[in-house]
Amino acid sequence: MISTERIQPNLVTVADMDAEDAIDLIHEAQAYKAGKQAFLKAPAYAVNLFFENSTRTKTSFQMAEHKLGMQVLEFEAKTSSTQKGETLYDTVKTMESIGVNVAVIRHPENEYYDQLLDHQLHTGIVNAGDGSGQHPSQCLLDMMTIDEEFGGFAGLKVLIVGDLTHSRVAHSNAMMLSRLGAQVYFAGPQDWYDPLLEKYGTYGDLDELLPHMDVVNLLRVQNERLTSAANEAFDAQGYHQRYGLTMARAAMMKPGAIIMHPAPVNRGVEIDSDLVEAPNSRIFTQMQNGVYTRMAILSRVLRYQGLM
Ligand code: CP
Repeated sequence: MISTERIQPNLVTVADMDAEDAIDLIHEAQAYKAGKQAFLKAPAYAVNLFFENSTRTKTSFQMAEHKLGMQVLEFEAKTSSTQKGETLYDTVKTMESIGVNVAVIRHPENEYYDQLLDHQLHTGIVNAGDGSGQHPSQCLLDMMTIDEEFGGFAGLKVLIVGDLTHSRVAHSNAMMLSRLGAQVYFAGPQDWYDPLLEKYGTYGDLDELLPHMDVVNLLRVQNERLTSAANEAFDAQGYHQRYGLTMARAAMMKPGAIIMHPAPVNRGVEIDSDLVEAPNSRIFTQMQNGVYTRMAILSRVLRYQGLM
Protein backbone atom coordinates (compact mmCIF):
# COMPACT_ATOMS: atom_id res chain seq x y z
CA MET A 1 0.00 0.00 0.00
CA ILE A 2 1.41 3.41 -1.02
CA SER A 3 1.46 5.83 1.94
CA THR A 4 -0.86 8.83 1.43
CA GLU A 5 1.91 11.45 1.55
CA ARG A 6 3.49 9.75 -1.47
CA ILE A 7 0.43 10.10 -3.70
CA GLN A 8 1.47 12.64 -6.34
CA PRO A 9 -0.31 14.31 -9.28
CA ASN A 10 2.53 13.62 -11.77
CA LEU A 11 5.65 11.50 -12.19
CA VAL A 12 8.23 13.26 -14.36
CA THR A 13 11.65 12.64 -12.82
CA VAL A 14 13.35 10.49 -10.19
CA ALA A 15 15.21 13.63 -9.04
CA ASP A 16 12.34 14.48 -6.68
CA MET A 17 11.90 10.87 -5.52
CA ASP A 18 13.64 9.58 -2.38
CA ALA A 19 14.62 5.96 -1.73
CA GLU A 20 11.45 5.19 0.28
CA ASP A 21 9.30 6.59 -2.49
CA ALA A 22 11.02 4.38 -5.07
CA ILE A 23 10.76 1.32 -2.80
CA ASP A 24 7.01 1.98 -2.35
CA LEU A 25 6.54 1.95 -6.13
CA ILE A 26 8.74 -1.14 -6.57
CA HIS A 27 6.72 -2.99 -3.90
CA GLU A 28 3.44 -2.06 -5.57
CA ALA A 29 4.83 -3.22 -8.95
CA GLN A 30 5.86 -6.51 -7.32
CA ALA A 31 2.35 -6.85 -5.84
CA TYR A 32 0.85 -6.38 -9.33
CA LYS A 33 3.27 -9.01 -10.65
CA ALA A 34 2.11 -11.37 -7.88
CA GLY A 35 -1.50 -10.94 -9.02
CA LYS A 36 -2.86 -7.90 -7.18
CA GLN A 37 -5.98 -6.60 -8.97
CA ALA A 38 -6.75 -2.92 -9.54
CA PHE A 39 -10.24 -1.46 -9.21
CA LEU A 40 -11.16 1.94 -10.62
CA LYS A 41 -13.79 3.97 -8.76
CA ALA A 42 -14.88 5.66 -12.01
CA PRO A 43 -13.92 5.53 -15.70
CA ALA A 44 -10.35 6.77 -16.27
CA TYR A 45 -8.82 7.83 -19.60
CA ALA A 46 -5.19 7.74 -20.75
CA VAL A 47 -3.41 9.04 -23.83
CA ASN A 48 0.16 8.22 -24.84
CA LEU A 49 1.77 11.22 -26.53
CA PHE A 50 4.99 9.93 -28.09
CA PHE A 51 7.06 12.46 -30.06
CA GLU A 52 10.03 10.07 -30.28
CA ASN A 53 10.08 6.47 -31.48
CA SER A 54 9.32 3.71 -29.02
CA THR A 55 8.46 0.03 -28.97
CA ARG A 56 8.71 -1.00 -25.31
CA THR A 57 7.71 2.06 -23.34
CA LYS A 58 4.64 2.88 -25.44
CA THR A 59 3.23 -0.66 -25.64
CA SER A 60 4.15 -1.33 -22.03
CA PHE A 61 2.24 1.76 -20.85
CA GLN A 62 -0.67 0.70 -23.10
CA MET A 63 -0.64 -2.76 -21.53
CA ALA A 64 -0.47 -1.27 -18.01
CA GLU A 65 -3.38 1.07 -18.79
CA HIS A 66 -5.51 -1.82 -20.10
CA LYS A 67 -4.64 -4.02 -17.11
CA LEU A 68 -5.75 -1.22 -14.77
CA GLY A 69 -9.06 -0.96 -16.65
CA MET A 70 -8.34 2.47 -18.16
CA GLN A 71 -9.71 3.56 -21.56
CA VAL A 72 -6.83 4.40 -23.91
CA LEU A 73 -7.17 7.12 -26.57
CA GLU A 74 -5.21 6.87 -29.82
CA PHE A 75 -2.62 9.53 -30.68
CA GLU A 76 0.03 9.59 -33.41
CA ALA A 77 2.41 12.56 -33.38
CA LYS A 78 2.90 12.34 -37.16
CA THR A 79 -0.81 12.82 -37.91
CA SER A 80 -1.57 15.18 -35.03
CA SER A 81 -2.01 18.95 -35.14
CA THR A 82 1.51 19.36 -33.73
CA GLN A 83 2.40 19.07 -37.45
CA LYS A 84 0.40 22.29 -37.99
CA GLY A 85 2.37 24.11 -35.30
CA GLU A 86 0.33 23.33 -32.18
CA THR A 87 2.47 23.53 -29.06
CA LEU A 88 2.95 20.68 -26.60
CA TYR A 89 1.12 22.69 -23.93
CA ASP A 90 -1.88 23.26 -26.25
CA THR A 91 -1.91 19.56 -27.13
CA VAL A 92 -1.96 18.53 -23.45
CA LYS A 93 -4.50 21.28 -22.59
CA THR A 94 -6.68 19.82 -25.34
CA MET A 95 -6.38 16.39 -23.74
CA GLU A 96 -7.40 17.89 -20.40
CA SER A 97 -10.40 19.64 -22.04
CA ILE A 98 -11.71 16.42 -23.56
CA GLY A 99 -11.41 14.57 -20.24
CA VAL A 100 -8.08 12.72 -20.28
CA ASN A 101 -6.94 11.82 -16.76
CA VAL A 102 -3.34 10.81 -17.52
CA ALA A 103 -1.04 11.85 -20.38
CA VAL A 104 2.07 9.71 -20.80
CA ILE A 105 4.59 11.76 -22.77
CA ARG A 106 7.88 11.05 -24.55
CA HIS A 107 9.57 14.10 -26.05
CA PRO A 108 13.05 14.90 -27.46
CA GLU A 109 13.38 18.10 -25.39
CA ASN A 110 15.03 17.77 -21.96
CA GLU A 111 12.65 18.76 -19.13
CA TYR A 112 9.78 19.44 -21.58
CA TYR A 113 7.49 18.78 -18.61
CA ASP A 114 8.42 22.02 -16.81
CA GLN A 115 6.28 24.06 -19.24
CA LEU A 116 3.31 21.77 -18.46
CA LEU A 117 3.70 21.64 -14.68
CA ASP A 118 3.78 25.47 -14.58
CA HIS A 119 0.12 25.43 -15.65
CA GLN A 120 -1.19 23.05 -12.94
CA LEU A 121 -3.22 20.95 -15.35
CA HIS A 122 -5.83 18.52 -14.03
CA THR A 123 -4.43 15.86 -16.36
CA GLY A 124 -1.63 13.91 -14.65
CA ILE A 125 1.70 13.96 -16.52
CA VAL A 126 3.85 10.84 -16.65
CA ASN A 127 7.25 11.20 -18.30
CA ALA A 128 8.09 8.36 -20.70
CA GLY A 129 11.51 9.89 -21.51
CA ASP A 130 12.74 13.46 -22.10
CA GLY A 131 15.70 13.81 -24.47
CA SER A 132 18.88 12.85 -22.63
CA GLY A 133 17.32 13.88 -19.30
CA GLN A 134 15.27 11.26 -17.45
CA HIS A 135 13.51 7.94 -18.05
CA PRO A 136 11.77 7.41 -14.70
CA SER A 137 9.64 4.39 -15.61
CA GLN A 138 12.70 2.62 -17.11
CA CYS A 139 14.65 3.50 -13.97
CA LEU A 140 12.00 2.05 -11.65
CA LEU A 141 11.60 -1.14 -13.71
CA ASP A 142 15.37 -1.55 -13.63
CA MET A 143 15.35 -1.08 -9.83
CA MET A 144 12.52 -3.63 -9.56
CA THR A 145 14.56 -6.12 -11.60
CA ILE A 146 17.67 -5.62 -9.44
CA ASP A 147 15.63 -5.84 -6.22
CA GLU A 148 13.99 -9.06 -7.45
CA GLU A 149 17.41 -10.54 -8.17
CA PHE A 150 19.39 -9.44 -5.11
CA GLY A 151 16.71 -8.55 -2.52
CA GLY A 152 18.05 -5.01 -2.05
CA PHE A 153 20.67 -2.51 -3.11
CA ALA A 154 23.04 -1.90 -0.16
CA GLY A 155 26.63 -2.44 -1.25
CA LEU A 156 25.65 -3.83 -4.66
CA LYS A 157 28.14 -2.93 -7.38
CA VAL A 158 26.47 -1.70 -10.58
CA LEU A 159 28.43 -0.83 -13.72
CA ILE A 160 26.76 1.44 -16.30
CA VAL A 161 28.53 1.09 -19.66
CA GLY A 162 28.43 3.09 -22.88
CA ASP A 163 27.02 6.37 -24.14
CA LEU A 164 26.77 8.09 -20.75
CA THR A 165 26.37 11.63 -22.13
CA HIS A 166 23.25 11.05 -24.19
CA SER A 167 21.52 8.37 -22.12
CA ARG A 168 18.49 9.28 -20.01
CA VAL A 169 18.70 5.75 -18.58
CA ALA A 170 22.24 6.44 -17.29
CA HIS A 171 21.15 9.72 -15.72
CA SER A 172 18.07 8.40 -13.93
CA ASN A 173 19.57 5.02 -12.94
CA ALA A 174 22.81 6.49 -11.53
CA MET A 175 20.83 8.96 -9.43
CA MET A 176 18.43 6.37 -8.02
CA LEU A 177 20.99 3.58 -7.53
CA SER A 178 23.15 5.85 -5.38
CA ARG A 179 20.06 6.90 -3.36
CA LEU A 180 19.22 3.24 -2.78
CA GLY A 181 22.71 2.49 -1.46
CA ALA A 182 24.33 0.76 -4.45
CA GLN A 183 27.92 1.50 -5.49
CA VAL A 184 27.79 2.89 -9.02
CA TYR A 185 30.59 2.67 -11.60
CA PHE A 186 30.79 3.99 -15.13
CA ALA A 187 32.78 2.93 -18.20
CA GLY A 188 32.69 3.99 -21.83
CA PRO A 189 34.36 6.19 -24.43
CA GLN A 190 36.02 9.26 -22.91
CA ASP A 191 34.13 11.44 -25.45
CA TRP A 192 30.84 10.26 -23.95
CA TYR A 193 31.81 10.64 -20.33
CA ASP A 194 29.44 12.94 -18.43
CA PRO A 195 30.98 14.83 -15.47
CA LEU A 196 27.44 15.37 -14.09
CA LEU A 197 27.52 11.67 -13.11
CA GLU A 198 30.55 12.10 -10.83
CA LYS A 199 28.40 12.74 -7.76
CA TYR A 200 26.78 9.31 -8.15
CA GLY A 201 29.75 7.02 -8.86
CA THR A 202 33.23 6.33 -10.16
CA TYR A 203 34.46 6.24 -13.75
CA GLY A 204 36.95 3.48 -14.63
CA ASP A 205 38.25 0.97 -17.15
CA LEU A 206 35.67 -1.58 -18.34
CA ASP A 207 37.95 -4.64 -18.17
CA GLU A 208 39.28 -3.76 -14.72
CA LEU A 209 35.80 -3.12 -13.26
CA LEU A 210 33.86 -5.96 -14.91
CA PRO A 211 35.00 -8.95 -12.74
CA HIS A 212 33.87 -7.16 -9.55
CA MET A 213 30.37 -6.11 -10.64
CA ASP A 214 26.99 -7.58 -9.60
CA VAL A 215 25.08 -5.81 -12.38
CA VAL A 216 26.33 -4.80 -15.82
CA ASN A 217 23.87 -2.22 -17.18
CA LEU A 218 24.68 -1.71 -20.88
CA LEU A 219 23.50 1.38 -22.76
CA ARG A 220 22.53 1.74 -26.39
CA VAL A 221 24.62 4.17 -28.41
CA GLN A 222 22.13 7.03 -28.92
CA ASN A 223 22.75 7.60 -32.64
CA GLU A 224 19.70 9.88 -32.84
CA ARG A 225 21.42 12.33 -30.44
CA LEU A 226 24.84 12.31 -32.16
CA THR A 227 25.84 14.87 -34.78
CA SER A 228 25.92 13.58 -38.37
CA ALA A 229 29.74 13.87 -38.28
CA ALA A 230 29.87 11.74 -35.09
CA ASN A 231 27.52 9.19 -36.65
CA GLU A 232 29.67 8.99 -39.80
CA ALA A 233 32.80 8.54 -37.66
CA PHE A 234 31.18 5.88 -35.43
CA ASP A 235 32.84 2.48 -35.86
CA ALA A 236 30.35 -0.13 -34.57
CA GLN A 237 32.82 -3.01 -34.72
CA GLY A 238 35.54 -1.00 -32.97
CA TYR A 239 33.04 0.05 -30.28
CA HIS A 240 32.04 -3.59 -29.74
CA GLN A 241 35.67 -4.66 -29.31
CA ARG A 242 36.52 -1.83 -26.91
CA TYR A 243 33.29 -1.26 -24.94
CA GLY A 244 30.84 -4.02 -25.90
CA LEU A 245 29.94 -7.05 -23.80
CA THR A 246 31.74 -9.68 -25.88
CA MET A 247 31.73 -13.41 -25.08
CA ALA A 248 35.23 -12.98 -23.61
CA ARG A 249 34.09 -10.17 -21.33
CA ALA A 250 30.95 -12.08 -20.28
CA ALA A 251 33.23 -14.91 -19.15
CA MET A 252 34.98 -12.41 -16.84
CA MET A 253 31.74 -11.61 -14.97
CA LYS A 254 31.52 -12.98 -11.45
CA PRO A 255 29.10 -15.85 -10.67
CA GLY A 256 25.61 -14.50 -9.99
CA ALA A 257 26.21 -11.24 -11.84
CA ILE A 258 23.48 -10.18 -14.28
CA ILE A 259 23.35 -8.39 -17.64
CA MET A 260 20.84 -5.57 -18.11
CA HIS A 261 20.05 -3.35 -21.10
CA PRO A 262 17.05 -1.02 -21.51
CA ALA A 263 16.71 -2.04 -25.20
CA PRO A 264 16.34 -1.62 -28.10
CA VAL A 265 19.52 -3.68 -28.33
CA ASN A 266 21.96 -3.18 -31.17
CA ARG A 267 23.18 -6.77 -31.41
CA GLY A 268 26.88 -6.95 -32.09
CA VAL A 269 27.48 -3.36 -30.96
CA GLU A 270 26.95 -2.94 -27.19
CA ILE A 271 26.36 -6.67 -26.68
CA ASP A 272 27.20 -9.90 -28.52
CA SER A 273 23.99 -11.23 -30.08
CA ASP A 274 24.39 -14.60 -28.29
CA LEU A 275 24.36 -12.88 -24.89
CA VAL A 276 21.00 -11.14 -25.30
CA GLU A 277 19.16 -14.25 -24.07
CA ALA A 278 22.02 -15.72 -22.01
CA PRO A 279 20.99 -17.36 -18.70
CA ASN A 280 22.27 -14.35 -16.75
CA SER A 281 20.64 -11.78 -19.06
CA ARG A 282 17.63 -10.01 -17.54
CA ILE A 283 16.82 -7.95 -20.66
CA PHE A 284 13.42 -9.55 -21.26
CA THR A 285 12.64 -9.71 -17.53
CA GLN A 286 13.15 -5.93 -17.52
CA MET A 287 10.49 -5.63 -20.24
CA GLN A 288 8.09 -7.89 -18.32
CA ASN A 289 8.65 -5.87 -15.12
CA GLY A 290 8.03 -2.68 -17.11
CA VAL A 291 4.31 -3.42 -17.34
CA TYR A 292 3.94 -3.87 -13.55
CA THR A 293 6.10 -0.83 -12.80
CA ARG A 294 3.97 1.30 -15.10
CA MET A 295 0.81 -0.04 -13.43
CA ALA A 296 2.24 1.16 -10.10
CA ILE A 297 3.14 4.59 -11.53
CA LEU A 298 -0.30 5.07 -13.10
CA SER A 299 -2.00 3.87 -9.91
CA ARG A 300 -0.25 6.57 -7.93
CA VAL A 301 -1.52 9.28 -10.29
CA LEU A 302 -5.04 7.78 -10.33
CA ARG A 303 -5.11 7.72 -6.51
CA TYR A 304 -4.28 11.43 -6.45
CA GLN A 305 -7.31 12.03 -8.67
CA GLY A 306 -9.52 9.86 -6.44
CA LEU A 307 -10.05 7.39 -9.26
CA MET A 308 -8.52 4.43 -7.41
N1 CP B 1 13.78 1.15 -23.24
C1 CP B 1 13.02 1.96 -24.01
O1 CP B 1 12.74 3.11 -23.66
O2 CP B 1 12.63 1.38 -25.18
P1 CP B 1 11.72 2.09 -26.28
O3 CP B 1 12.54 3.25 -26.85
O4 CP B 1 11.44 1.03 -27.32
O5 CP B 1 10.50 2.60 -25.62
